[in-house]
Amino acid sequence: MAESEIHLYYKNVTAEVIGDEHGITKKQFADIAAQTQPAIAEVNRQREQGKTPFRDLPLTDEYRTNVERIAAEFQDDCETLVVLGIGGSALGNIAVQTALNPYMYNLDASQRKNSKCPRLFVFDNVDPSQFGSFLNSIEDRLDKTVFNVISKSGRTAETASQFLVIRQMLLDKLGDSALKDRMIATTDANEGTMRKIADASEIRTLVVPDGVGGRFSVLSPVGLLSAAMCGIDIEQLLKGAADMDRRVSQTEFGNNPAAINAGINWHYYNRGKPISVMMPYSYALKDFADWYRQLWAESLGKSNDLSGGKVYVGPTPVKALGTTDQHSQVQLYREGPNDKLFTFLHVDRFDRDVTIGQAPDCAPELEYLAGKSMTKLLNSEKLATEYALLHDKRPCLTVNFDRITPYTVGQFIYLFEVTTSIAGALFHINTYDQPAVELGKEATFALMGRPGFEELAKKIEPVARIDEKFQV
Ligand code: PA5
Repeated sequence: MAESEIHLYYKNVTAEVIGDEHGITKKQFADIAAQTQPAIAEVNRQREQGKTPFRDLPLTDEYRTNVERIAAEFQDDCETLVVLGIGGSALGNIAVQTALNPYMYNLDASQRKNSKCPRLFVFDNVDPSQFGSFLNSIEDRLDKTVFNVISKSGRTAETASQFLVIRQMLLDKLGDSALKDRMIATTDANEGTMRKIADASEIRTLVVPDGVGGRFSVLSPVGLLSAAMCGIDIEQLLKGAADMDRRVSQTEFGNNPAAINAGINWHYYNRGKPISVMMPYSYALKDFADWYRQLWAESLGKSNDLSGGKVYVGPTPVKALGTTDQHSQVQLYREGPNDKLFTFLHVDRFDRDVTIGQAPDCAPELEYLAGKSMTKLLNSEKLATEYALLHDKRPCLTVNFDRITPYTVGQFIYLFEVTTSIAGALFHINTYDQPAVELGKEATFALMGRPGFEELAKKIEPVARIDEKFQV
């Protein structure tokens, strides 16, 4: 069966639909195309120069083969897989799992692809209450648990601390061989703290490819191992991305969905709509809105442009979920400031459907629902919300999925990664760094007493001291 393609639908940002004040006119589209065309060329050039190695991940068999080999080795004796990581080392794992495995996957083994698929937990925080509860439940089952610690640097305080807790527990409960038997580290090929530890402790490793930043790494071993172990077809995931690669590399603006997406987002950012709301009408896709938030925020939120000038740019990504947030956010979205661009994620066919039951005689007002499918209701609500937003001249994009499969999810990931690259070129900023994340990381080192950060600790002290005058 031919695999379905995802599509970006953009009629509902046009002036034809929402008028000249908030919609994009034909002339403006021509301007967007003219300005985005060089940005497409620029990102294609960056790729040729080897500056964006994430672009080639779907075309590289080596990572997939390594992941499949390690997955096969560890799957036999693993009822629970635990990912330790944060940011780009966690969000892709979570999003792929939510999208491609059933909602009850962890609780109901019969909903897993096969008996070798483990439960999956991804810890991307250091909340003692959350992690402590998990430790209590796992401590007697360590011999059936595999830990995938993902950290390119190995110095990230959250991941390092989780790792140290688990390491101690494994050594205490299972002895010296436990690190080798129960851990997989996904880290830099040659350098860094985690590489050093893994080599010294004979922990099996997978590689975070050189030059691939965390938020662009889901199609590398960072995101592929948990997916493969949990029964997701990673070959199809990569194939979807590779096929999207052909579409988003097209130099002609009108044929390139990433260019159109980036151009429209950039246009609205510059015209009073700096907020970008991603609203999946699919629970399975909800964590992709989270993944997108990091991708968009860390890549595009920059103070300097490439010439060193101060620009302080960056659209604010917001996640919402249909229909849940209709009952939480839509009042604001319709009557609040017209400062947002909406991107819906729509699914034609879900992996199953549910038929709504009959209404009782005493509630004939519910009869209109009886016998209808939940797919029809969910998709009607998407359309209804879009209609209501358009009524108030709010621009709306939709990414249309025929079905949610590894192939279409791979396309989606790649579409938004390249959209981000093209948007970065339009904003004329460095899309691939995140210098502003550093100060908070260093302040944590200082507060936790890491040698070398004493001066910073002194500067933080006034912030840490509570001034009672201001506390009520
Ligand atoms: O996208 C990024 O680069 C970050 O979110 C990193 O993935 C995150 O800070 C974790 O870094 P590391 O993999 O070094 O632990």
